[in-house]
Amino acid sequence: MKILAIETSCDETAVALLEIDGALEKPNIKVLGNTLLSQVALHEQYGGVYPNLAKREHQKNLPPLLEETLREACENPEKPDIDYIAVTNGPGLEPALWVGITFAEALGKKWNKLVVPVNHMEGHVFSVLFESGDALALPALALLVSGGHTELVHVKDFMSYEILGQTRDDAVGEAFDKVARMLGLPYPGGPEISKLAEIARGKVNSETTTFRFPRPMMHSKNLDFSFSGLKTAVLYKLKSENGSTSSPQVGDEGFKEDMARAFEDAAVEVLVDKTRRALVELGDGAKTLIVAGGVSANLHLSRELRKLVAEFPDITLKIPPRLLTTDNAIMIGISAFIKISRKPEILKDKMPITAQGNLSF
Ligand code: KG4
Ligand code: ZN
Repeated sequence: MKILAIETSCDETAVALLEIDGALEKPNIKVLGNTLLSQVALHEQYGGVYPNLAKREHQKNLPPLLEETLREACENPEKPDIDYIAVTNGPGLEPALWVGITFAEALGKKWNKLVVPVNHMEGHVFSVLFESGDALALPALALLVSGGHTELVHVKDFMSYEILGQTRDDAVGEAFDKVARMLGLPYPGGPEISKLAEIARGKVNSETTTFRFPRPMMHSKNLDFSFSGLKTAVLYKLKSENGSTSSPQVGDEGFKEDMARAFEDAAVEVLVDKTRRALVELGDGAKTLIVAGGVSANLHLSRELRKLVAEFPDITLKIPPRLLTTDNAIMIGISAFIKISRKPEILKDKMPITAQGNLSF
């Protein structure tokens, strides 16, 4: 089937046209067209994403992205050969989500095609189906790490989920972004922190860090996370180093590298420890560990998760290819394919689609 997918939940406007069929565990996915415009440069000056600014940008970006995708993918872009339209309806920023939904519904009417709402986090989970490796073995444990979420989800089957643990305050990506801002690094901060931390690890005596941050909730009995205390610990350390100001001295690269490393060590250790506990608890209930969302691009995290999976010989690790770690429309199209295949009854449901900022599994 051919699916036109639209993603506008946060600060990326993305449109893709997929031809997708085959087994859900290992679908044949052909990307006929794929376009994306990031608003990162615009939001960078504010150090985060502003919903109404994001909304305006999505409104501006969607029409040209659709045109480009269809030109890339179709012989007749005026009357494209598609079966369904997929659109993210949550979670995310509601004003931003509404732009995608309104756009998708208008196209659905124009071309008389059904619009399928997709959960953005489900999109992240199934982004791993894009890689060419083995078929996805379910049940699985998914560690979802992004700018808005930090969740451990038991994927019992396609369309059957249970949240085992989640953050009680900041998402881990948000903590990376906030700490980066404190260190005077550009937004989004995750890749910047990661770069500096890797430099610190590459230096002589890299086995010892100059300081160590707390591992929040590491010893709590549940699988929940908390990252706001870690962020505050970084802030206090900065203040104690610099007197009353909270930013490090300009040019103090070694100090920034050590801070980035100490923060990343703490965040990754908690993620890996809780993931280990979830795998132990699930036992035979997990054949695969899926790691997805923007933070899954983090080098240190993926290295530590590979070590973790080596402790569980029956478990396969699946991380999406780099292109699909951050927000994109391909993962939305893949999720729609799964939904249409597994729950065809949704195709009869003609309820209007609504944006759900807090949509959960
Ligand atoms: O999944 P995503 O693109 O958007 C949301 O749905 O939130 O994730 C974006 C987040 C940002 O917080 C960004 O700093 C973080 O992913 N990120 C990283 C890395 N690349 C992106 N965090 C740590 N290390 C990275 N290499
Ligand atoms: Zn996302």
